[in-house]
Amino acid sequence: MRSHYCGHLNESHVDQEVELYGWAHRRRDHGGVIFIDLRDREGLVQVVYDPDLPEVFSTAEQVRSEFVLKINGKVRLRPEGTGNADLPTGQIEVLGKELTILNRSETPPFMLDISDDEVSEEHRLRYRYIDLRRPEMLQRMRFRSRISRELRNYLDDSGFLDIETPMLTKATPEGARDYLVPSRTHQGKFFALPQSPQIFKQLLMVSGMDRYYQIVRCFRDEDLRADRQPEFTQLDIETSFIDEEEIMSLMEGMIRQLFARVLEVPLHDPFPRMSYDEAILRYGSDKPDLRIPLELVDVDDLMKDVEFKVFSGPAQDANSRVAALRLPKGCELSRKDIDEYTKYVGIYGAKGLAYIKVNDLAAGREGLQSPILKFLPDEVVSAIMERTQAEDGDLVFFGADKSKIVNEALGALRVKLGHDRGLVEHGWRPLWVVDFPMFERDEKEGRWHSLHHPFTSPKEEHLDLLESDPGACYSRAYDMVLNGTELGGGSMRIYRSEVQSKVFRALGISDEEAQDKFGFLLEALKQGCPPHGGIAFGLDRLVMLMTGAASIRDVMAFPKTQTAACLLTEAPSEASLAQLREVGIRLAKPPKADS
Ligand code: AMO
Ligand code: AMP
Repeated sequence: MRSHYCGHLNESHVDQEVELYGWAHRRRDHGGVIFIDLRDREGLVQVVYDPDLPEVFSTAEQVRSEFVLKINGKVRLRPEGTGNADLPTGQIEVLGKELTILNRSETPPFMLDISDDEVSEEHRLRYRYIDLRRPEMLQRMRFRSRISRELRNYLDDSGFLDIETPMLTKATPEGARDYLVPSRTHQGKFFALPQSPQIFKQLLMVSGMDRYYQIVRCFRDEDLRADRQPEFTQLDIETSFIDEEEIMSLMEGMIRQLFARVLEVPLHDPFPRMSYDEAILRYGSDKPDLRIPLELVDVDDLMKDVEFKVFSGPAQDANSRVAALRLPKGCELSRKDIDEYTKYVGIYGAKGLAYIKVNDLAAGREGLQSPILKFLPDEVVSAIMERTQAEDGDLVFFGADKSKIVNEALGALRVKLGHDRGLVEHGWRPLWVVDFPMFERDEKEGRWHSLHHPFTSPKEEHLDLLESDPGACYSRAYDMVLNGTELGGGSMRIYRSEVQSKVFRALGISDEEAQDKFGFLLEALKQGCPPHGGIAFGLDRLVMLMTGAASIRDVMAFPKTQTAACLLTEAPSEASLAQLREVGIRLAKPPKADS
């Protein structure tokens, strides 16, 4: 057994005999003396071998990077002037008396003292076990463990029960594709891996568990991004007999305590709230980054009668929008910059990006510079300037299209400008987004989708609208947003079977289909289901934000690539014909190998 971790040694251990285990971080030969930096989870310590002990010395000579060693020796102060102030153990060293090579190592695929971006991510993922040896990654794993512990403690102290739910289950609709698992014992049938434990946690409320939580893996086959993985971890929570006010207050209490304890950061108390409609109107997004002091401003009313059809068309259409976005000091942008931003909003479907440069407000038209100025009468121009509060040196961008396109394009542009122009304020800006619409219209399919999931309760006063005007029906959902990331989402649930059936109908799910897919839930709702609600947090996202990592991949031990593959194990991989036969599957394209 080790007597100490390497990184824990300091002046207080001088003259103590120690037994250490770890990896050779580096070996240096200095005029007949060998230095080995021994590394373990807690840090590095320098071990010195003198030629006075010829046998041990010759073992030390064989040591290479990443060899696994057992070391016995005595701690001493480093000689005057040889201390290393950058290293916590930098004032001491261990005089090596014994040395055992427990295992050898090939030359590592990359050096461990690199930072995240000094080697390709592919290479890091291929050799993830080496990558995880890097202090940066180790620190993140440690941090993640601490966060889980703090969250568990809070929930345990608040009377929550940690209960597991199945991984082999039936589809749970959270809006992504399911990962399917074929059944051997029921040929032709499939399990789905859970997109979330949503239905099970509701059933636990029917059972009377009252307060449930679980740190649980969820699976979603969807397009991946920096903050999305095909399997990720939720902190999943459900409670009975309390309303959204109480849930939100309990949950922000948890996050506030977490930040206070782990980062020593006091978050707002209470978190500010904003309605979904306001968030979209002002930020073009339901997860606004409040650190960026730029806002969308509606100019529909000003543009209704202008000559420029690109603007007047959308201004007159109820499903469209004309919005302005003022960028302070935006006159500094070059033609090329503006072209780049125009290309950028194109990703979101915007057909252009009109702008007005405000060189000199006092000079009227002469002081403005814009490709669309000629289409706008004086009074419209001055109304725009007034409404956007433009000042000399500013630039005002415009988006005009279907509301969805304008919101996404200008919402994303707002964030990009914030980062590109160094406008992102320092600190943490959490908020609750509330008062979500129940449904979102899918114009292509001509039907309504749930904005959250189909078990979200409509507002009591909107129950009647479910059939007559689904678009006007709002829900009892709430999202927690932090610095532009959706950390968690939840809602009060439907707990009456007939309301659930109505919502299924509004979603275009026939009674028959509802019975087939969710019959067990509809039945459970009739068996004394209490009013209940809950929330789920993206644990990976939370850790990403708190560690300042650029992607959730950096806070997961073994993440998948953008194409949902594991470079380390080379999963997914082919199944043998025998395995396929067992589960009754024949491939449309047979595998190459003859196994
Ligand atoms: P939702 O789908 O909003 O809600 O998910 C909750 C939170 O999980 C995180 N998250 C993800 N993190 C990483 N990769 C992904 N692919 C991914 N998808 C989601 C987000 C998100 O806020 N059952 C409901 C919760 C409820 O109503 O209680 C649900 O799953 O941070
Ligand atoms: P055009 O008349 O197409 O050359 O466009 C004149 C200006 O309006 C250019 O700066 C375009 O980038 C911009 N523009 C075109 N379509 C849109 C749109 N849908 N929203 C905002 N600006 C647009």
